[in-house]
Amino acid sequence: MNIPFPEDSKFSSFFNCSRTFAAIFIALMLSVPTFVKAQDSTAAAGAATAAAPAGGGDAAKGETLFKNNCAQCHAVTDERVVGPGLKGASARHDFGWLAKWVRNSQAVIASGDPVAVKLYNDYSKAQMTSFPNLSDDDIKGIFAYVDNAATAAPAAAAAGSAAPAAGAASQSSGPSDLFMIVVVALVVVMLLVLGVLLVIVSLLSKAVSGTPGTEEGQKVDFMTKLSKGLKNVAMDPSIRSATIWIFVLLVLKATLDGAYGVGIQQGYAPKQPISFSHKLHAGEYKIDCNYCHTGVNRGKSAHIPSANICMNCHGVIKKESPEIQKIYTSIENNQPIEWVRVHNLPDLAYFNHAQHVNVGGVECENCHGDVAKMEVIQQRSSLTMGWCIDCHRKTEVNTKDNQYYDKLVQLHGTESKEALKVADIGGLECSKCHY
Ligand code: HEC
Ligand code: HEC
Ligand code: HEC
Ligand code: HEC
Ligand code: HEC
Ligand code: HEC
Repeated sequence: MNIPFPEDSKFSSFFNCSRTFAAIFIALMLSVPTFVKAQDSTAAAGAATAAAPAGGGDAAKGETLFKNNCAQCHAVTDERVVGPGLKGASARHDFGWLAKWVRNSQAVIASGDPVAVKLYNDYSKAQMTSFPNLSDDDIKGIFAYVDNAATAAPAAAAAGSAAPAAGAASQSSGPSDLFMIVVVALVVVMLLVLGVLLVIVSLLSKAVSGTPGTEEGQKVDFMTKLSKGLKNVAMDPSIRSATIWIFVLLVLKATLDGAYGVGIQQGYAPKQPISFSHKLHAGEYKIDCNYCHTGVNRGKSAHIPSANICMNCHGVIKKESPEIQKIYTSIENNQPIEWVRVHNLPDLAYFNHAQHVNVGGVECENCHGDVAKMEVIQQRSSLTMGWCIDCHRKTEVNTKDNQYYDKLVQLHGTESKEALKVADIGGLECSKCHY
């Protein structure tokens, strides 16, 4: 069939215009999978670098001892924390001196040892904790670890800088927001394209049915045609109901989102009574989370440190600062510092830190975000039931070196080819999380 194509420049530009819309539409459709892939690859990159090699033998034991006892004041590099960096300490001092120093540094200083006295004075008479319980083997282990780690430090630093990427990728809010924007943009574009196509169809059909030959028929003003076409579109019952449906669904979604958001405090970062900075303490000075949040490996609650823990250091550090004076006031008045609670599950849910951190080997960052970069602490995860369940479905149980799981893994292996997930050990049972 030969449709007479009107030689109207406005008409053809209109037609081009609809082609542009179609192009944008296709481009957007193509960009969605690329976007998703980009997300995956950042996560994968983070995961790949996170797997760092560990030392062996004595040094492995030394690592635990160092992290639990020394890391809050010493770095393995030559960086100064509270005390000097321990890189090369085993070369600076003989072992007998080191052992005496670690077990009781004050005794060595009191004995008048010139090296000890100079150190003490150089570090403005900050007292190092005594560790009388460490055996010779323990202390050898610690310095074996320090010597190993000092050489491996550049690699560790690289792994550390990759961690934020993994943390960012695990933040679900960013991608999902973007996804919504893309979806809405797609819907809008689709509606526009639909409208344009309908106009074209109605114009074309007019052109076909228009009386051929009469010049006036062809010359009917373009705008009249367009307005007629649009009127037809607006009057079409199926289009009308489709528009109404889309509108209703959008409103419904907004309402539901609002309702689900009740009680969710994602992003909550209240002002605290003392401007305590995790960025400074956990980030720059690399104090282990466990040093202050002593419950994470042992029990349900992580614990907020008491003022006494602050005094281990602030008994000597920055005494004159007004913020530190608040710690002193709190101790003098025998009144705890009134920190504002940030994370708070409703009473109906049971969550246990030791189960996740100690048994499961889940890193704090997975749930709390990159705390070591936070000036003010902030709730990064939604803490909803869906969030817990989602992770239990996806996460494999850390069964390595855990005899408790050996039998289970065997049994599971006979039934399924997939790795043992938390969901398989009861992580989706209501009673595990609800009293
Ligand atoms: C509360 C903070 C603190 C803790 C915990 C701590 N130290 Fe120290 N350490 C210091 C300070 C401060 C100095 C500097 C000397 C001084 O002021 O007494 C120091 C000095 C040293 C030195 C001398 C370093 C040199 O370059 O000559 C060694 C070695 C040392 N510490 C080892 C350890 C070991 C091993 C542990 C863990 C078992 C440990 N320290 C735990 C604060 C600490
Ligand atoms: C020097 C002590 C210290 C260290 C080290 C420390 N924290 Fe904290 N943390 C605190 C104090 C004090 C608070 C309460 C004040 C605040 O919210 O800032 C707190 C609060 C928190 C909270 C929020 C608690 C709530 O109210 O819900 C989280 C989560 C947290 N810390 C995680 C970490 C992680 C993860 C690390 C290690 C990367 C860490 N902390 C290291 C002292 C410490
Ligand atoms: C292991 C040692 C250590 C512990 C424990 C510790 N801090 Fe600190 N804190 C430091 C160091 C080091 C600085 C940096 C001092 C400087 O800037 O010279 C610091 C700085 C601060 C500052 C900033 C002071 C200022 O005016 O610049 C505040 C506030 C503070 N700490 C609060 C606390 C509180 C509250 C606790 C207890 C929950 C605590 N700290 C526990 C080592 C520690
Ligand atoms: C599997 C997720 C998860 C991991 C891993 C995790 N936390 Fe938590 N954390 C939570 C939840 C959920 C809460 C809220 C608990 C509540 O309200 O009962 C919380 C609360 C806290 C609090 C507030 C005090 C409390 O216990 O209620 C601190 C402090 C804290 N976490 C620190 C840490 C530190 C430090 C680590 C790493 C050693 C860590 N968390 C690892 C999920 C986690
Ligand atoms: C980042 C991942 C992650 C998140 C988020 C998480 N969990 Fe878990 N959960 C684990 C892992 C891993 C284990 C398995 C620990 C083990 O080896 O026993 C576990 C185990 C459990 C168990 C014991 C299950 C069993 O049958 O032994 C309970 C209960 C639990 N989680 C509660 C919660 C609650 C409540 C939340 C949300 C507030 C939550 N978890 C969020 C990873 C997570
Ligand atoms: C992995 C842990 C976990 C498991 C398993 C779990 N829940 Fe939950 N549930 C939670 C947490 C955490 C909350 C609180 C979430 C919030 O405040 O948004 C919650 C909240 C609820 C609520 C209250 C909802 C609200 O908005 O107040 C109900 C009802 C509920 N769960 C029922 C169940 C049932 C039924 C099952 C078993 C099919 C179940 N849960 C299994 C962790 C869990």
